[in-house]
Amino acid sequence: MKKYVICCLLVVFICSFHVFALTSQMFRRHGGFSLSSDFNYDTFYLDQKIDHFGFQEDGTFKQRYLVADKHWRQPGGPILFYTGNEGDISWFCNNTGFMWDVAGEMQAMLVFAEHRYYGESMPFGPDSYRDSKHLNYLTSEQALADFAVLIQNLKSSRPGAQHSPVIAIGGSYGGMLAAWLRMKYPHVVVGALASSAPIWQFTGMVPCGHFYTIVTQDFAQSGPNCHANIRASWKAIDRLFSTASGRQWLSEELGLCAPFKSQKDLADFKSWLQETWVNLAMVDYPYKADFLQPLPPWPIQAVCKHLRLDSTASDQQLLHGVSQAAKVYYNSTGSSPCLNTSQTATGSLGALGWNYQVRACKARRARRRPSWLRTPRPPLQACTEMVMPMCADGVQDMFEAEEWDFQAFSDECHATFGVRPRANWAASVYGGKDIASHSNIIFSNGGLDPWSSGGVTFNVSDSLVSIVIPEGAHHLDLRHANDLDPPSVRAARVLELGYFWRWIQEAAKAHQTTSTSG
Ligand SMILES: *[C@@H]1O[C@H](CO)[C@@H](O)[C@H](O)[C@H]1NC(C)=O
Ligand SMILES: *[C@@H]1O[C@H](CO)[C@@H](O)[C@H](O)[C@H]1NC(C)=O
Ligand SMILES: *[C@@H]1O[C@H](CO)[C@@H](O)[C@H](O)[C@H]1NC(C)=O
Ligand SMILES: *[C@@H]1O[C@H](CO)[C@@H](O)[C@H](O)[C@H]1NC(C)=O
Repeated sequence: MKKYVICCLLVVFICSFHVFALTSQMFRRHGGFSLSSDFNYDTFYLDQKIDHFGFQEDGTFKQRYLVADKHWRQPGGPILFYTGNEGDISWFCNNTGFMWDVAGEMQAMLVFAEHRYYGESMPFGPDSYRDSKHLNYLTSEQALADFAVLIQNLKSSRPGAQHSPVIAIGGSYGGMLAAWLRMKYPHVVVGALASSAPIWQFTGMVPCGHFYTIVTQDFAQSGPNCHANIRASWKAIDRLFSTASGRQWLSEELGLCAPFKSQKDLADFKSWLQETWVNLAMVDYPYKADFLQPLPPWPIQAVCKHLRLDSTASDQQLLHGVSQAAKVYYNSTGSSPCLNTSQTATGSLGALGWNYQVRACKARRARRRPSWLRTPRPPLQACTEMVMPMCADGVQDMFEAEEWDFQAFSDECHATFGVRPRANWAASVYGGKDIASHSNIIFSNGGLDPWSSGGVTFNVSDSLVSIVIPEGAHHLDLRHANDLDPPSVRAARVLELGYFWRWIQEAAKAHQTTSTSG
C-alpha cells in the first residue's frame, strides 16, 4: 500500500520573492473562473520526417503545433513547451491552465506540440491507422525526435528565440515525454515538469497491484463502507446475471441503452464498471470539472453517498447503490437518457479516455476482450513499447483478483495488430530506475492519482525532484488555479515555478560562459 511522506512544502528552496508575488497574483486573478476565452493561439504545421531513425522511408508529414506569444518577451524570453500526448493537441491546450496562468508573469511563449498519429498530425493521412506497417512510426522515440526538431526549428526561425530557454511540460503520458525529452535532448530543453508521469509503470519496476490499491484507497476514504460495497458488488453482479430476470432488472436499474442480452455480456459490463471507478480516481478534483466527464466537486464522495449500505443489504439494494453511483459519473448533468456500456468518456475525449484505459487495463482473462479492443483506434503503443503490467488481488484492492499475464497480453496484441510487445524495451531506452545521471526534472504526483503508482515519488537527486500533492488527482497542478485548490497544490505550483526560474538562470549563466569563452 502506497503511503506518501507529506513533505514540508513551506520551505521553498528558492525563496524568490518574485515567485511569491507572481503566484499570489495568479490566484487572485484566476481563482474559480474559467478562462476559455483566453485560449488564444495560432496554429502552425511543421514538415517532419516520418522516420527520424532510418533512411529508407524518406517521406514527411505535417505536425500541428499551437503558439501563444502574446506575453512573450523578446529577445530570449522563455518558451514553455507542452509535449503533446495521446489526443488532439487543442484539448490539452485547453486543459493545461497552469501554463496560461503563468505565461504573463514569466513573459513566456507557450507552444503546444501535437503527438504524431493524434489529432491532425497523421503521418499517412487517413491511412495512418490502416495496419501495423502504417503504424510502425508510432513510438515515443519518434515523437520525442519530432519535439526536438520542432524546438530547433522554432529557435532558428522565430526572431528573438535563438537563445530562449525552453522548458518541457506535460501531464500523464505527456509528462513521461517531457521527462524523456530532457533526458534524451538536454541541449534542447533546460528542464522538464513531468506531472503525473508514470515513468516506472513498466515491467519489473513497481508492484503490479499498486495502481488498483490507490484507486481503492480513494474510495475507502471518501465514505463509510464505500470500497467494501464495491468489492461485494462483483459477486452480487454474478448472481443477478445468472438469470434472465436478474439481467433484465439490472439493465432497467442502470438505464442501459442496450439491455444485457446474455451471460456473455457479464465480463464487458464488469470491465466497464471497473474503468468507471478508475476514471473517477483519476479525476477526483476538488471542484466541478469536465475532464473525462462533467462531474461535481470531489466526485468520489458523491459516488460514495450511494454506497453506504451495510453488509445486510440485498443484491438488489447493493446494485441500486452501484447504479446510482455510476450515474454520478455518467449523468451528473442529467442529460444522459441512457448508459452505454461501450463508453467510459464523453464525445471528443473518447480517444483520450480510451488511451488512459489502455494503461489501466489489466491483462484480461484470455476470454475477456480488453476494452480497447472495442474502440476503433488501436492502442498500438501499449502493444509495442508501453507495456504496463497491472494486477488486482481483491484483498488490498476492491476489484476482482486478476493476475498480470504477459503471454495472454502479447497474444491479444498479436491477434489484433500482428505485433508483439517488448516488455523490457522501456527500461532499455529510458533507463528504468537508473535515472540519477539526469538533471532538471520535476516529477509531480497526486496522492489520489492511481498513476502515482508508477511515478517518481521521492527525490532522486538535487535536480531530479519529486513533489507530492496528497490531495491531488491526475495532474491537478497543470490545471488552472482555482479557489477550491487545496494548499498542497498551490504550494506545488510555487515550487515548480521556483525551479523554472532556477533552470532559466542556470541556462543564462551557461550561455554567458560559453559565449565569452568561445
Ligand atoms: C478548446 O477551446 C477552444 C476555445 O475555448 C474551443 O473552440 C475548442 O473546441 C476546444 N478544443 C477542444 C478539443 O475541446
Ligand atoms: C454505444 O457506444 C458505442 C461506441 O461509441 C457506439 O458505437 C454505439 O452506437 C453506442 N450505442 C448506443 C445504443 O448508443
Ligand atoms: C439522467 O438524469 C435525468 C434527469 O434526472 C433522468 O431523466 C435520466 O433518466 C437519467 N438517465 C439515466 C440513464 O438514468
Ligand atoms: C524534494 O526536495 C524538495 C526540495 O528540497 C522538497 O520541497 C520536496 O518536498 C522533496 N520531495 C519529497 C517527495 O520529499
